[in-house]
Amino acid sequence: MTQDQAKELVGRRAAQQVEDGMRVGLGTGSTATMFIKALGERVREGLRIRCVASSDASHRLGQSLGMEMLTLQDLPELDLYIDGADEVGPGLALIKGGGGALLREKIVASAARRFVVVVDSSKVVPVLGRFPLPVEVIKMALPLVESKLNRLGLAPRLRRHPDGSVYLTDENNYILDCACGSIPDPEHTAAVIRSLVGVVEHGLFLKMASAALVAGDQGVSELQA
Ligand code: A5P
Repeated sequence: MTQDQAKELVGRRAAQQVEDGMRVGLGTGSTATMFIKALGERVREGLRIRCVASSDASHRLGQSLGMEMLTLQDLPELDLYIDGADEVGPGLALIKGGGGALLREKIVASAARRFVVVVDSSKVVPVLGRFPLPVEVIKMALPLVESKLNRLGLAPRLRRHPDGSVYLTDENNYILDCACGSIPDPEHTAAVIRSLVGVVEHGLFLKMASAALVAGDQGVSELQA
């Protein structure tokens, strides 16, 4: 099975977990997109749900599929949030934000009673940190935060688009991708990064996921928190 096939399989499986009347958070990224498309099919067939997206891109996708797209202003509590991840470690600790939407993803995830992660099996790791950890930073604070992260040995690198222009999040902030290598104590790393003034959010999602659906050659398996 290719990685794209695994993403589609797990996206479809996650769409089956959505029940009529639910308030659903829509994630961001290629796996979440598979989920949203599969959910869109169910909406076309008559499923009635209300949704909040974690990015402008997923909001537009939901709209284009005829889904009722609202904001946290209208729906401050959600029944279910479904999103991908860049890495899934022990205890369902996650690295997210490869797609740049970590801040809104964390906000929408925190509004949900249940957060189900959808990944292909290549994302499940024994120790987090091989995937660069995204840290969202207020523009003005960039030089300060960058040098502090450097001093912590986290090797931050300002995220850019392939054409060299600087990447900006939906909230108009910068992202520093930190080449941590290994994050043996995610709680400690999260606390240290969070303490830096100017950091808006980081991509460690700890004690947030309720379950993970993992697609591989054997089909879809479920990991519980
Ligand atoms: C978006 O900001 C991310 O958190 C994604 O959920 C994560 O990068 C996984 O993306 P893919 O499903 O595209 O691998």
